[in-house]
Amino acid sequence: MEHYIVQGGNPLSGEVEISGAKNAALAILAASIMADETVIIENVPDVSDIRVLVEAIQSIGAVVEHPDRHIYHINGALIRDLPVDNELVRRIRGSYYMIGALLGKYKRAQVALPGGCAIGLRPIDQHIKGFRALGAKIRLENGMVVAEAENLHGAHIYMDVVSVGATINIMMAASMARGTTIIENAAKEPHVVDLANFLGSMGAKIKGAGTDVIRIHGVEHLHKTDYVIIPDQIEAGTYMFAAAATRGDVTITNIIPKHMESISAKLSEIGCEIKESDDAIRIVASRRLQATNVKTLPYPGFPTDMQPQIAVLLGLSSGTSIVTEGIFENRFKYVDEMTKMGAHITVESSTAIIDGVQSYSGASLYAPDLRAGAALVMAALAANGISRIYNIHYIERGYEDFPDKIRSLGGEMVKVNDGAEDSDAMRRMMLKVI
Ligand code: EPZ
Repeated sequence: MEHYIVQGGNPLSGEVEISGAKNAALAILAASIMADETVIIENVPDVSDIRVLVEAIQSIGAVVEHPDRHIYHINGALIRDLPVDNELVRRIRGSYYMIGALLGKYKRAQVALPGGCAIGLRPIDQHIKGFRALGAKIRLENGMVVAEAENLHGAHIYMDVVSVGATINIMMAASMARGTTIIENAAKEPHVVDLANFLGSMGAKIKGAGTDVIRIHGVEHLHKTDYVIIPDQIEAGTYMFAAAATRGDVTITNIIPKHMESISAKLSEIGCEIKESDDAIRIVASRRLQATNVKTLPYPGFPTDMQPQIAVLLGLSSGTSIVTEGIFENRFKYVDEMTKMGAHITVESSTAIIDGVQSYSGASLYAPDLRAGAALVMAALAANGISRIYNIHYIERGYEDFPDKIRSLGGEMVKVNDGAEDSDAMRRMMLKVI
């Protein structure tokens, strides 16, 4: 089975460049089909969720060119009324953005019900509520969401829960509805703002993205654009935490420090040194860190997508920490794996109580989902001895070149392909170990 082998113990040090934001890219790639001209999207991360969505976009007739690893040209003029469906589409969450994009443009969409990481129930009632308010009829048929409207019209929509996905989906459909839509209690995440900026660059009229009230005045057509996706807040945060867990000194570059505030603040609070410049942050952790409490919340709160990473870090800090998950119901599945490494974590409903230990020890670990998988790699980098991390397809959904980037920081991590345990990198690493 493909897996990572990690030899722990090296403090990470050096510079790492952060890739484009996966969750912004998923929304923006889906929205790109709303124009009948060629849209150019740059800084797209090369991760598996993106490749699956691009295949889905192609499968319904959009013309896609991929002139560079991080650039896509997409033209949605020739799209046919085909269902967006295949086994892979059903596994990713981002496929549901095709509903908003197709419904907005063609007033009809048929998209397989979304999958994504198993971190909670993840209903789509708020998306459906929004589409219905815009005048669409929605039915669920053979595992597909079928949305149809004679015409879409503006509406005043109050979201019952703050949902990134529903805010994005409604924003896309409303961009091509007649009249004005107001989304109240909207999500404020950086990727919501990035999508609004992208749609704006295609001619959409959107105000207030980044606040909890978004106003969208529908237009008839969207046009071509050339757009650069923002850096990935969560990838950046993961490297910051990996630096802290290994007591390293790492500068993350190509980021927007403002997006990192809740993450940087926690790191300084527990004893790291943080130095910010215009598009980089240096993090230095020269001693053992201290315990703290944290609760995940919608942006600008501490992100749920950093919850496993902070738990791994606090597991090595002195004292008792409490981590409360405020967004998803089932996001502590990695704790059993951490226990194998010697962590002292007990979970009671949505709270993890963490008694910091001096060190972790290497183990065979199974990633339960994307972010928890990255957190287990972090733990392995900080641990004594060798760890093997399985189920890495989860991690590859969202981290571009993870082993290469970790190795460039002095960490020892290799991906072992089926039957290729004797790869050069592996041999080099094992020689060091023995
Ligand atoms: C997005 O998921 C991200 N995924 C997730 O990232 C991220 O964890 C999450 O936002 C929160 O920041 C993508 O962008 C593709 P939500 P999404 O709708 O849109 C409830 C990663 O690792 N809810 O903001 O699915 C829901 O159950 C992934 O990159 C409803 O009740 O999240 C949850 O409790 C994992 N009804 C809360 O709202 C709805 O209709 C927030 O979910 C929609 C959501």
